Amino acid sequence: MRLVFLGPPGAGKGTQAVRFAQERKLPHVSTGDMLRAAAAAGSPAGKLAKPIMESGGLVGDGIVLACVEERLDGDAKVGFILDGYPRNVSQAQDLERVLAKRGMALDGVVNFDLAIASIVPRMAGRRSCPSDGAVYHVTGNPPKVAGKCDKCGAALVQRADDKEEVVRERMRTYAEKTAPLIKHYGDKGLLITVDADGGVDKVYGRLVDALAARSGKGAR
Ligand code: AP5
Repeated sequence: MRLVFLGPPGAGKGTQAVRFAQERKLPHVSTGDMLRAAAAAGSPAGKLAKPIMESGGLVGDGIVLACVEERLDGDAKVGFILDGYPRNVSQAQDLERVLAKRGMALDGVVNFDLAIASIVPRMAGRRSCPSDGAVYHVTGNPPKVAGKCDKCGAALVQRADDKEEVVRERMRTYAEKTAPLIKHYGDKGLLITVDADGGVDKVYGRLVDALAARSGKGAR
């Protein structure tokens, strides 16, 4: 299965991708996670990416493509969930080209549809584990012990790009650069829209149902 998870910042793409990837034993390929790891490691690509991410813009197409191709030639040979890539039409064209080169094609593009009014509180309440990347929400998806990662016990932190002014810029970037992908993939017959409003389990149920309907297997 080769899927793209699309949607505005904070719509819950990462939360749903982690769960779906675990259940279906698929690699979760998150360009945001890869760029954050590169920035934390201080690699040349990470040094370029860090200030752009902290300002809410898009990192250069070539840097993210290199991250994605490395995974396509590694763990993601068997299939993948691409979370946060592509993010503009030129990245979508890059992806089509590098998949075709490997004899691969997308099975679907899931668009997590959520109104801005619901996005802001999700991002404001997000807490992440700096050690293993696990993502929580102070009320919507809380850890078992407040402020601590369920898996490794590390103290949870707020992402640098979840500050209000950066969130505003990320939303602007999304509207200008990423939202046109909805039409792009709709025209190709690949778009699957999932209503991302409601709790994590409810949205997950809709995702599974939508994918089952698309593959002709009916409901869960
Ligand atoms: P990235 O990490 O991809 O950020 P994003 O797309 O802005 O998405 P988020 O991670 O903010 O949100 P999400 O939809 O995954 O939501 P989540 O599940 O965490 O990218 C970061 C930056 O890296 C970009 O700004 C850019 O600079 C750069 N970048 C990355 N990819 C790039 C690319 N391809 N090209 C160029 N630059 C790139 O959920 C959010 C919160 O809500 C969490 O707290 C969660 O617990 C909670 N939550 C989730 N679902 C629910 C629910 N149903 N109910 C209640 N709470 C919920």
